This record gives sequence, structure tokens and C-alpha cells, in this order.
Amino acid sequence: MDHLTVVSHPLVQHKLTLMREKETSTASFRKLLREISLLLAYEVTRSLPMTTKQIETPIMPMEAPTIDGKKLALISILRAGNGLLDGILELIPAARVGFVGLYRDPETLQPVQYYCKLPEQMEDRLAIVVDPMLATGNSSVAAIDLLKKSGAKNIRFLCLLASPEGVQRMKEAHPDVPIVTAAVDAQLNDHGYIVPGLGDAGDRMFGTK
Ligand code: URA
Repeated sequence: MDHLTVVSHPLVQHKLTLMREKETSTASFRKLLREISLLLAYEVTRSLPMTTKQIETPIMPMEAPTIDGKKLALISILRAGNGLLDGILELIPAARVGFVGLYRDPETLQPVQYYCKLPEQMEDRLAIVVDPMLATGNSSVAAIDLLKKSGAKNIRFLCLLASPEGVQRMKEAHPDVPIVTAAVDAQLNDHGYIVPGLGDAGDRMFGTK
């Protein structure tokens, strides 16, 4: 996979525009996020390894394609990652799920881990890390550091919106991790928000301020 894939499908772009609009309600934002996550999941899993198995249709036996390897791992960066996770799990219901919680140390501004629970045998699974907003890239890089420490070797990162700064940071820290996103916006502002962006994804999906 390329290091960066921007999913330009009209349905993705249309839904993203609706999500960006500030008047979009929490209920609509959540529904759109679920819908868009299905379409993004389709892209991020496009090149999964395949094998075949022998089955019988009502007409005759056949050698039919099926996904190869261990169940994949979806890793949600708390809390906004959970909004993407729900939709993807509808498409990949047998996936194993992990969670990484990070907060930003007010002194050092570096991400500090407060929670990490990962599936077993990460070394044998494709891991898809999900977080709607790739902003500074600090939390994504830290989460992927944790996954690599747990043995994961095959990792992809899925987000809804990215900043050029975040993409660059990921490319420097984890050049082996392909990124799939619906758009790369212009820049980050001084508060670390993506511009023009869609605001705080967690607040918009959970109705907090
Ligand atoms: N996190 C968000 O939710 N929004 C941004 O714009 C940046 C980080």
C-alpha cells in the first residue's frame, strides 16, 4: 500500500462535508461517521491477503476465495477512535479489538499512556489503528510505538481527516505504516486543531463540550 491513500469516492466526500458543517447535530454526525467508516474500512482492507477454500454451492463444489491469516486487530485510540470502530466492526464482526488511552502531559505536552489493552498474538495479525483525526500525530505515533512493542509488524492507520503535519510526523516515525484518510486539510492551528477541519471529533460524536 502507498504511505498515504486519500479516499476520493463521492459518497465519502459528500458525507465528510456534512460532518464538517457546524449545524450538523450529534445524532447526524454519529450516523454519518458510522456510514463513512464502512466505506473507509473497505479501502483500508483492500489488499488483505487471500486464499481459497473448498465449498459446495447448491449446484457444485468449488474452490472459493476467502481472507487468509489470523483475525485482524482493530485498535481504537480513546475516545474518538470508538466512533470509527463501531462501523468497522459491522463490516468485520470477527475482528479482535484493542484500546489505547493517552493523555497529553501539560508540562511536556507529550502523550502519556493511561490505558492499553491489546489482543493476543499481535505479531501474527494485521492491526488497523483507528482515530478520526490525525492532527499533530503525537498520539498516533505513541499508539503505534506501543503496538510495535507488543510485537505487531503489520500495521495500518485509518482516520477521517489528516493534517499535513500529522502525515509528515507519521511518515518520519513510522514509514512502514500506511495511512488511509478521507481528506488531508490545509494545516493545524495554534491549538492543534485541523483547519478547516470539523472541530473536536470526540465532542461532536458524544455531544460534549
Ligand atoms: N482532534 C480533534 O478532534 N479535532 C482536531 O481538529 C484535532 C484533533
